[in-house]
Amino acid sequence: MIEIKTAKDMQCVTKTYRKEGKTIGFVPTMGFLHEGHMALAEKARKENDIVVMSIFVNPLQFGPGEDFESYPRDIERDRKLAEGGGVDVLFTPAPEDMYQQESTVIVNVKKRTDVLCGRSRVGHFDGVATVLTKLFNLTSPTRVYFGMKDAQQVAVVDGLINDFFMDIKLVPVDTVREEDGLAKSSRNVYLSKSEREEAAALYQSLQHGARLIADGERNPDVIMEEVRGMLNKTSGVIDYAEIYSYPDLKSREMLSGKIIIAVAVKFSKARLIDNIIIDIPDDRKEDL
Ligand code: PAF
Repeated sequence: MIEIKTAKDMQCVTKTYRKEGKTIGFVPTMGFLHEGHMALAEKARKENDIVVMSIFVNPLQFGPGEDFESYPRDIERDRKLAEGGGVDVLFTPAPEDMYQQESTVIVNVKKRTDVLCGRSRVGHFDGVATVLTKLFNLTSPTRVYFGMKDAQQVAVVDGLINDFFMDIKLVPVDTVREEDGLAKSSRNVYLSKSEREEAAALYQSLQHGARLIADGERNPDVIMEEVRGMLNKTSGVIDYAEIYSYPDLKSREMLSGKIIIAVAVKFSKARLIDNIIIDIPDDRKEDL
C-alpha cells in the first residue's frame, strides 16, 4: 500500500492508473475504520484493479456545535487496517490542501435533503457533495462504494453522479451490524455501557416496522407510532423517526414501492442513525 498526502500527487497517480487501463474502486471515508468500511474495501477489492481509500474528516460537512474537533481519529490503526483490507492507495490529505483558499464553488444539493439528517444538519450534504466532487476528480474512480447506513447520503450521491453526468458507478453496500443488530459506526465508542445495550432498539424498531408492512399495514402513521414507541423506551431522544419513498425521500399517504424507514436517536454523547429499505410489492397485482 502507498500513502498519498497531497491532492496533486493523488491526481498524478490516478492518471497513470487510468492510462494503463486499470479500473479504480474508490472508498471515501472519514477514518476511524470499522468493519463497515472494511466491507466497502472488500467489495472494491473484488471488483477493481486498484482500490483507493481516502481518510479525510471533512470540516465542510460539520455544522457549528457538531463534533468536528472531537470526531474520533486514529491514523496509525487506520493505516494497518487499510493495508490488511487490500487497499492499494491510502489518500490522507490535509484540510489546507483540500480547501486551499476561500472556496469559489460549493455544491448546493437541492433535493433529498429537506428531511432526515439534511433537515437536522443544515448544510451537511452541501459539504458532503462538495468534498466528494473534489475527491472524485482526484481519484477518477470507475466505481465508488458507500454504506447503506447513510442511505440519505447514498441518495444524494446518486443525484450528484446523475446530475453532473459523472462517469462513475455508485455501489451501495449493506450495513454491517453487531450481533444485536446495532449498525457499526465510528460514533458507537461514545456510548456508555447501558446506552450501548439500549442502542439495539434502533434496529429492533426498524425490523418491527418492516414486520408491520409485511403483515399488510400501509398507513405510515400507524407504523411510525409503533417505531417511535419502541425508541421512546430508551434513554435516548428521538431526533427523527420517519418513513419516505426511496431514493427521492418523499412522504406518502399510503405506502407503496421502495420505501425507507429511517431513525436518528441522540444519546448523551452520540447521535446514532439507522434505516431499513423495503420494496413493497404492488398490492393490486395480488388481486388479479
Ligand atoms: O460517509 C462519510 O464518511 C463521509 O460523509 C464521506 C462520504 C467520506 C464524505 O466526507
